[in-house]
Amino acid sequence: MALLDIDNLSVTFDTDDGPVYAVSELSLSIDRGQTLGIVGESGSGKSQTAFAIMGLLAGNGRTAGSVRFDGQELLTASKKQMNALRAHRIAMIFQDPMTSLNPYMRISDQMAEVLTLHQGMSKRDAVAEATHMLDAVRIPSAAERIRLFPHEFSGGMRQRVMIAMSLLCKPDLLIADEPTTALDVTVQAQIMNLLADLQREFDMATILITHDLGVVAGFCERVTVMYGSRVMEEGPTDPLFAKPTHPYTLGLLGAVPRIDDEDAQMTAIVGNPPNMADPPSGCPFHPRCDFAGDDCLTMPPLEPFAEGRARACRRPVEKIAP
Ligand SMILES: Nc1ncnc2c1ncn2[C@@H]1O[C@H](COP(=O)(O)OP(=O)(O)OP(=O)(O)O)[C@@H](O)[C@H]1O
Ligand SMILES: [Mg+2]
Repeated sequence: MALLDIDNLSVTFDTDDGPVYAVSELSLSIDRGQTLGIVGESGSGKSQTAFAIMGLLAGNGRTAGSVRFDGQELLTASKKQMNALRAHRIAMIFQDPMTSLNPYMRISDQMAEVLTLHQGMSKRDAVAEATHMLDAVRIPSAAERIRLFPHEFSGGMRQRVMIAMSLLCKPDLLIADEPTTALDVTVQAQIMNLLADLQREFDMATILITHDLGVVAGFCERVTVMYGSRVMEEGPTDPLFAKPTHPYTLGLLGAVPRIDDEDAQMTAIVGNPPNMADPPSGCPFHPRCDFAGDDCLTMPPLEPFAEGRARACRRPVEKIAP
């Protein structure tokens, strides 16, 4: 049994202008200790997938389908059950650490609270454990710096604090949503190396949500490519990057398909992502796809086509220029 098994998940937001389809019929699964990347353009539904798993959707959000964690259905779980899971087994790192750290509390108090409240530890043990975790994320002089307030840390250091905090409960599943986009490039690389080390050390299943395909290539065993609220293509990272077959994946990677018709050369993805309050019918990518035909006006199912790989496309591109 997979650790996390998402089957036909849909997330819809009710707004004054009607429903917004943020996630549609999404299925994916991740095993213990595995690393999965979710990539796709802005608005494709990556974060809302994560929020649906965590039970943290905005008030106007509705879900359908199933999200099972270690056999337990999360979409119908009670607040109490979700709180327990978030305290002990599933953790999330958010994009902007300042929004999730309390600016008025010392790091020591915020981190210790996680353990005193949720695990019933004494304050003294909790601070010791929190210090140990700051050491693990390589914050120098952790024992002293744990007394500081969030604004006394640099952006990169705050993100380390966030990672340390998310690991305090020793989660089985870690969801990292754009964990490095707020940081400059060298710090990004350090944080990703650190996450990779910790992922192995703690043997956590990890879902990494990112725009950065380079980061996915270095970190993830498998990748799910999303577009317009749906999964377009998925599979093991190396073959998917080496031989993408969905026209959207190709565009995302900037790959050039080898085709006899010169006019159909695709170099970059032209146009804008769809408006999910009024999505195109059929495959959401078809209005921007050079290969689309009439058969793309109904949504193709996500179907296996090679070892461990699947795609939702009736016009896949099998040949890519060297
Ligand atoms: N509370 C809400 N009410 C209405 N629509 C929402 C709400 N929250 C998110 N959405 C919409 O849901 C869709 C998916 O958003 P999501 O945050 O998952 O995108 P994303 O793939 O994470 O993008 P980014 O890369 O920019 O973070 C978007 O169209 C977004 O505008
Ligand atoms: Mg997002």
